[in-house]
Amino acid sequence: MRCHAGPEGSKVRNSRARSGSPGACTMPEMPRIVPPIQESIVEAASHLRAGGVVAFATETVYGLGADTFNLNAIDRVYALKGRPFDNPLIAHVLDVAMAREILAESWDDRCSALATRFWPGPLTMIVPKRREVPDRATAGRATIAIRCPDHPAALQLLRALGSPISAPSANRSGQVSPTTAQHVADEFAEVEDLLILDGGPCVVGIESTVLDMTREPPEILRPGSITLDDIARVIGEARLREWHVQDASPGTSPRHYAPRAPLRLLNGHDLRNEIVTLRGRSCAVLAFPPLSRALRRRNELTLFTMPDDPVQYAARLYATLREADGAGVHAILIEAPPKDDERWTAVLDRLRRASARS
Ligand code: TXA
Ligand code: MG
Repeated sequence: MRCHAGPEGSKVRNSRARSGSPGACTMPEMPRIVPPIQESIVEAASHLRAGGVVAFATETVYGLGADTFNLNAIDRVYALKGRPFDNPLIAHVLDVAMAREILAESWDDRCSALATRFWPGPLTMIVPKRREVPDRATAGRATIAIRCPDHPAALQLLRALGSPISAPSANRSGQVSPTTAQHVADEFAEVEDLLILDGGPCVVGIESTVLDMTREPPEILRPGSITLDDIARVIGEARLREWHVQDASPGTSPRHYAPRAPLRLLNGHDLRNEIVTLRGRSCAVLAFPPLSRALRRRNELTLFTMPDDPVQYAARLYATLREADGAGVHAILIEAPPKDDERWTAVLDRLRRASARS
């Protein structure tokens, strides 16, 4: 238990040490950020086995994990997040074998084809669940959402535990998902027994594509970096649920992923007008390079230049929203990405939810 540098070599601000241990930080106790070395993986797996909660890096966002078969630990995850009990969790697996042998009641050829193409990776598949899987882990549903994460820290943890880990994103319900270990520590600063397995910043940056394989044709309930086109190329037919429809997946309510400051999604012209309207009040602006260049002399703005590539934009989005929020601004104004380009669907989905007023 010692302070350590993160995988990027950066000092981990919130790393905790128990007072009295050699070289201890003077900061108070947990949550404790640990590097993804063998010693911490073993510790994290035993913490899970003992019913503890472990936050861990994935390629999308950090997850707040519990042993799928430990009811108390699952309850703790819901309690920590303040998550409604009717919103089911994703179970993370090491591989297809773990999905089929432990969780899924049925697994058709299309599931196999998608897993072969996209696992490990940011695709979550909803399939009928086995009776032995506790109802609590799926919020009482007869189906279970399963994904194999593409991150060495997550995979090592799954290998060490030898069993699935149920994990929602490691944020308070309705807040922006965390993409660094420090975000998780900030979010759960007072949770003393939380262990955070640091895997560096998440490269994808937004949550996985959630695909309901129990519908005909299979339906995307939450868009992600794996697009409708990507999926259709593997299984032929699939469709995308409109972003404002929420009955199939309670976690995709219109108001979601929201920072504290009100967020508005505007085209460049309306965004400039809004700045005029807000005159005198501080605001953050997330803009593409041309608009950002035009605004850079406006000292009253906290300006973030966003990449015009959707993959890079997604990787930066949540960290930028947290930073904008942390600046204590009155409002966050975001220049809307293109609406008709499929590559932007997932980012646009998150921005729409973050800016929804109800
Ligand atoms: O990338 C991700 O998916 C991250 C990382 C940690 O893996 N996890 C994540 O979990 O975003 P969470 O709980 O924040 O989002 C899971 C989504 C929710 O919208 C939930 O309602 C939906 O998946 N979901 C889970 N099980 C479901 C089920 N059986 N039927 C319908 N929707 C389900
Ligand atoms: Mg979430």
